Amino acid sequence: MDLRPLLGEASLEVPKEGQLSRGELLELLPKADGLIALLNVRVDSELLAAGKRLKIVANFAVGYDNVDLAEATRRGVVVTNTPDVLTDATADFAFTLLLAAARRLGEGERLVRAGAWQGWAPGLLLGTELRGRRLGVVGAGRIGRALLQRAKGFAMDLVYDSPRQMPEAEALGARHVSREELLATCDFVSLHCPLSQNTKGLIDAKALATMKPTAILVNTARGACVDHEALADALESGAIAGAGLDVFENEPQVPERLLELESVVLAPHIASATLSARTKMAEICANAIRTRLQGSCPPTALNPEAMQ
Ligand code: DGY
Repeated sequence: MDLRPLLGEASLEVPKEGQLSRGELLELLPKADGLIALLNVRVDSELLAAGKRLKIVANFAVGYDNVDLAEATRRGVVVTNTPDVLTDATADFAFTLLLAAARRLGEGERLVRAGAWQGWAPGLLLGTELRGRRLGVVGAGRIGRALLQRAKGFAMDLVYDSPRQMPEAEALGARHVSREELLATCDFVSLHCPLSQNTKGLIDAKALATMKPTAILVNTARGACVDHEALADALESGAIAGAGLDVFENEPQVPERLLELESVVLAPHIASATLSARTKMAEICANAIRTRLQGSCPPTALNPEAMQ
């Protein structure tokens, strides 16, 4: 997609195909008034200091744990994200992972591709149906609620854990429960919380030990919300039954132990990867840059106070 028409007076520099190295980015930044940052670019004090002219960082993601927002604000740099436009794509994909793990799709695919399928058999790759099973959503924001909406259509029993009761989630028939109750009683647990000091390692050995041995964990939030070593332990020992993971702490590295486990469905951080969502994300970023460089505050600003 060509963003130039959306940028107004601003010129766009895309120095090369693919991603810039940190060094290349730091070298280019002193000339830049705005930056479109992908979620794997650490927008920290070093980068913000290099961007002496920067007025805006448009983060090409709804999550912005890669950005030091306080430092950006201190330097008068407005930071924006891309809310709403990827909600459906991400919720669709969380449900895809949930179903794929419940019905052991990855295992089936590998069996067929390996030429090892011996034909129909009554006990081949038995999975779990969704009707009446309990889904627990951790973080009932836009994406969490969109997942609850999908799960309602599959007649699942719905609960959520959020800092406060959410009328929109209750309207879908979901019940507000404590984190402890959610982990202990759910057949499926799906994470939809931002990554923060409070949610880093949220699913650790202690949390996994309280889950049902039949439970399936889905993560489309951020990899660091889950302790992957503890998850591998839990899957190997049968403390939980399976997982569907789109995100990892050190992407694109995926822990070797998870790669070896049949019970995990793995995806390369593609939950928002639909043409429609990604086009709209790009448009939001370009519009935010234009708006800021024309002297106004973009509607998706996370720190409008940085304008002062
Ligand atoms: C986001 O926007 O935070 C997603 O992780 C991108 O897919």
